[in-house]
This record gives sequence, C-alpha cells and structure tokens, in this order.
Amino acid sequence: MSASKGLPKAGRPLEEIQAALSSALVDDVRAHWNRAFRPPADVQAVATEAYMMFMSDNGLMSLRAEWMGRFEDEVIEMCVGLFNGPADATGTFTSGGSESIYSALHAMREWAREKYPHITAPEIVAPYSLHPAFSKGAHYFDLKLVRTPLGPDRRGSVEAMTAAITPNTIGMAASAPCWPYGLYDPIDEIAAVAHERGLWMHTDACVGGYLAPFLERLGYAFPTWDFRNPGVMSISADLHKLGYCPKPASTVLWRSRDLLRYHNVHPSDWPGGQYTMRGFAGTRTAGPIFAAWAVMRYLGEDGYVELARKLMATREQMMDGVDAIPGLKAWRNDLLPIAIESTEFDLATIKAAMTKLGWMLVGSAEPPLINVPIDAATEPHHLEAFLGDLRKVVDLARASGLSDREALNY
Ligand SMILES: Cc1ncc(COP(=O)(O)O)c(C=O)c1O
Repeated sequence: MSASKGLPKAGRPLEEIQAALSSALVDDVRAHWNRAFRPPADVQAVATEAYMMFMSDNGLMSLRAEWMGRFEDEVIEMCVGLFNGPADATGTFTSGGSESIYSALHAMREWAREKYPHITAPEIVAPYSLHPAFSKGAHYFDLKLVRTPLGPDRRGSVEAMTAAITPNTIGMAASAPCWPYGLYDPIDEIAAVAHERGLWMHTDACVGGYLAPFLERLGYAFPTWDFRNPGVMSISADLHKLGYCPKPASTVLWRSRDLLRYHNVHPSDWPGGQYTMRGFAGTRTAGPIFAAWAVMRYLGEDGYVELARKLMATREQMMDGVDAIPGLKAWRNDLLPIAIESTEFDLATIKAAMTKLGWMLVGSAEPPLINVPIDAATEPHHLEAFLGDLRKVVDLARASGLSDREALNY
C-alpha cells in the first residue's frame, strides 16, 4: 500500500516523516503571506513556548480546571478592555472569526425568539461586502441574510440598509473593516438605526479589532465601531489576525454578561448529565488560549502600539512599491488588506503567474483585486521579494502577454 493511501501497516522511521514534512515547507519568504498574521520573531517565540506547554491540555475543562479557566478569563478581560464596553461586557474565546460570527448569529436568533416571538422567518440586514461566514452562519441557523448594495465609496450604505428593514428584521451587521476592500462601513450610523429600531447590531471587527484600538491611540480615526455605540450588542475580533496570537484564536465580545444566556446551551438529555461548555466548542486544545495570554501579557498596550506603528509604515511602503509598478495601483483604503487593482492587466493572469512563482495570494472578483495581508513580521526583504516578482510578472504580461488565469477569489 502506498504511503498516501491509508494507514501504513508498520510505523515509519522518524527521519522519513521529517523529510516528508520538510518537503511541504515553502521557503520562508514565499510562505510569508500564507502564514499571516504573525508577530516579530521574539513574540512568536513567546507564543510557541506557551502553545507547546499546553498543546495537549483539553480546553474543554476550562470551566472546571481553575488554573485553565483563570487564564482564559484573563485573556477575555484583556480583550474586553479594548472595546469600550459597559462594566459587565464580556466575551468568549473561539477558534476563529467564523466561529465568532456563528456565535453572534446564534445568540442574535435566540435573543430575537425571546424579544420578538412573532417573527418566524428572521432576517439580518448587512452590506454586500460582509464576510461570507455570515452567509454560512445564516444557512446553519435558518436566518435570511439580506445583503444591500454598497454606496459609491464601496462602503455599506445606511440608506440601502434602512430601506431593507422589514417587519421580519431582527438585526444588522457591518464590517470594521471588510475583507477584501479594507474599508470601514459607517458603523456608527448603522448602529444608530439598529438602536432606534430595537435591532441587534453586530460589528465584524475580525480584521481591525485588535489593531484599531492601538491606531486610535496613535491618532488614527475610524468611524466609531465598538461598544461606544449603544446599538452594538456583539463584536467579532480575531486574535489570530492582528492580535498576533497563534491560530486558532478569536473572540466574540458581548455587550453584557446577560447576553451569554443566548449564546450558551447546556443540554442534559443524555446519560452523562449536564453538559456545560464555553460556547460552541467541546474538546479543543488549550494551547491557543495560553499562547494568547502569553502574547498579550508580553506585548502589553505599548507593545501593540509599536507593532501597529510598524505595520502602518510597512503598509505605506508596500502601497508605494505597488504604485511604482506601471499598470498597478494600491487602493488608499482604511486599513488592511492591501488591495491591488489594475486598469491595464487581467489580474487573474497576474495572480496565476505569481502562484507559479510560489506566492499564495487571495483575490476579489468585484472589482478585480489582488489582496495581500501584511503583518508585523513583514520585513523589507519580504516586500522586496514580492514586489520584485510582481514587477517581473507585469513586465512579462506587457511584453508577451500571459494566458493562464486563476480565479480572483478568497
Ligand atoms: C472581515 C472578516 N470577517 C471574518 C473573517 C473570518 O475569519 P476566519 O477566517 O478566522 O474564520 C475574515 C477572514 O479573513 C475577515 O476578513
């Protein structure tokens, strides 16, 4: 039996396994974007140590094992403090932005069942650019996600969203910022409408949630996107993106502890008695929880502010570097990702040629964009290598044309 089909009869030597694993490793420079989002090496070392120490501990026990629960609670407390919530705001540690979003949609539905029991076909209104995890979640929870046209600035349109509210609407959602444009929706205005209409408002800050608070300390301004808006009931924010914690790590923040009762489910209809977990997960590794704790404690607010400053400087260099390649242009968006457009080339061919050179890129179809997710581990040699290859590919496209295409999708 070949090694790729089924379990080998006899165990294989460690050297063979190591060689196979090494063969899958792409060189560090080309793998860089694929590994986003990472901190600089010293922070990564702190994360690795904590992760490895607790990799085998079962996070399922965190409500019972005091030593584990305490670290998880402290992570949540450090996070909640960044979102300007009321005193009893809280959060849940999750495996990623998608799980955070599913958690919020589930809670929103349960809340609406209590508050608006007459609504049997609940709807959520959101801009077209909202992340597809909301569509998946709406499917899982039998909700109708109503995506509304964007404004001319490609941000969510308050007018279009307001017009889409029906007697079945239970909530609204918007991005801070959205992928792939890196643009903030006017969350403050949308949240005001939600508040006035008695709707649940969710902010998807998966990308910006652990960056914007530090940029705000540096003087950057964004539409008010967090619990400062009385309408915002929940926020998704990813520690494993610009919080620089190792994957899988995200948070869903709740405006008040009381909302946890719409999130958590405690079944006891089986022989094992009451089953009480934090959120969706059962068995999970405690590694990411301890690693998140270690990274956040190690960096502190000052460390995050410095990483935010470095990231924005890298962003400028990257955008200028893209603009210096004739035929390409980087959008001057609010945050991340870098969004590259071209009026001259079919970006699907550029993406295909970059893939052949070993770069793993994501794109966007409407409008055609290539997206690059830089992080605080992005160093000048990463930029040089990427921009050098991008220039080569563009030169080739201009000189002789490129025929292979690759879908511009995520
Ligand atoms: C704005 C936004 N929301 C949600 C998500 C989903 O996060 P995850 O991939 O961690 O599930 C992403 C991922 O890129 C995102 O950019």
